[in-house]
Amino acid sequence: MSTSKLTIAALAGDGIGPEVMREALKVLQAAARRFSLTLDITEAPVGWAGIDAAGDALPETTLALCRRSDAILFGSVGLPDRDPTVPKERRPERAALLRLRKEFSLFANLRPVRLPRELSHACPLRPERQGDGLDLLVVRELTGGLYFGQPKLTEEIQAGRRAVDTMVYTTPEIERIAHVAFRTARVRRRKVTSIDKANVLENGILWREVVTRVAGEYPDVALDHMFVDNAAMQLVLRPTQFDVVLCENLFGDILSDEAAALAGSLGMLPSASLGITSGGRTFGLYEPAGGTAPDIAGKDLANPIAQILSAALLLRHSFGLEDAAKAVESAVEQVIARGLRTGDIYSPADPSARKVGTHEMGDAIAQAVG
Ligand code: IPM
Ligand code: MG
Repeated sequence: MSTSKLTIAALAGDGIGPEVMREALKVLQAAARRFSLTLDITEAPVGWAGIDAAGDALPETTLALCRRSDAILFGSVGLPDRDPTVPKERRPERAALLRLRKEFSLFANLRPVRLPRELSHACPLRPERQGDGLDLLVVRELTGGLYFGQPKLTEEIQAGRRAVDTMVYTTPEIERIAHVAFRTARVRRRKVTSIDKANVLENGILWREVVTRVAGEYPDVALDHMFVDNAAMQLVLRPTQFDVVLCENLFGDILSDEAAALAGSLGMLPSASLGITSGGRTFGLYEPAGGTAPDIAGKDLANPIAQILSAALLLRHSFGLEDAAKAVESAVEQVIARGLRTGDIYSPADPSARKVGTHEMGDAIAQAVG
């Protein structure tokens, strides 16, 4: 869908959120100028910023803004040092982020992991394991599994306490995320690796059965299955074997961080969390997969690229603006090729690299967009 006006809620959140958001908005404005788009962006507090502003990690006014927007550009939330000051249900991770995912049924989380050749120095793997650079996509189920399953509780028992989380998936939940994985594989290298723990978990058996059945509708896409422990190992031994990696919620959380480290840094990993498409429109929340990094917040050290690439995903998935999305992605590639590096992806062993701050990186990318 291409639209004349893009209504976007920008929720920067905590830690490095505000400073990387500033750079992403700058890049979006540059894309808007080049492609004649009209942006209607409203910023609102979320996370600890929401608690400070309105006593709630997801203030009513912020939620209302999200409801009347076409997409949410999200920063990051959570400051572990402040956790003891509020009950766990009111902390930002659950009360804002998980709530938004559930509220808007954002079941499909796409995390594209790319290691361009120029960042070879930032990858912890030996060059012979990196192939021509890495390019894989984690498709993570985002509204089921252990994160949301009931019962979920901690209770007192004689021997101390007892904590329960419940892993639960239904056939339709597995089917819809499997379809997302197979459809995206069709525009990539046509291979899906489905992750489970079918040797131990009931959920794993069902997951494997349902994914195998859905695969029948996509004869042009190759499917293989891998136990999650093996997948964690294969990612470091032979990451080039992966194209689309399909995971349930917790496995996807873990493997996507591991994969991001292979791509140089968590600061490079964007994500799209998508709901159901209706009337040609897909509501989505777009956020960097890394956290708030409170230790470097406010110091002009954070890498804004994950936030900027999340804005590119927003242009693509919520608005169908493929050209604008590509322009942002190629601006990031150009700037990396020119040697600009924030601290997390900088290596003194790389002769062409020059260390820059958050602002300079954002400015250079905005300029490269045109
Ligand atoms: C992520 C994050 C979140 C998650 C946290 C902040 C709740 O780690 O988006 O990967 O576990 O989903
Ligand atoms: Mg995570």
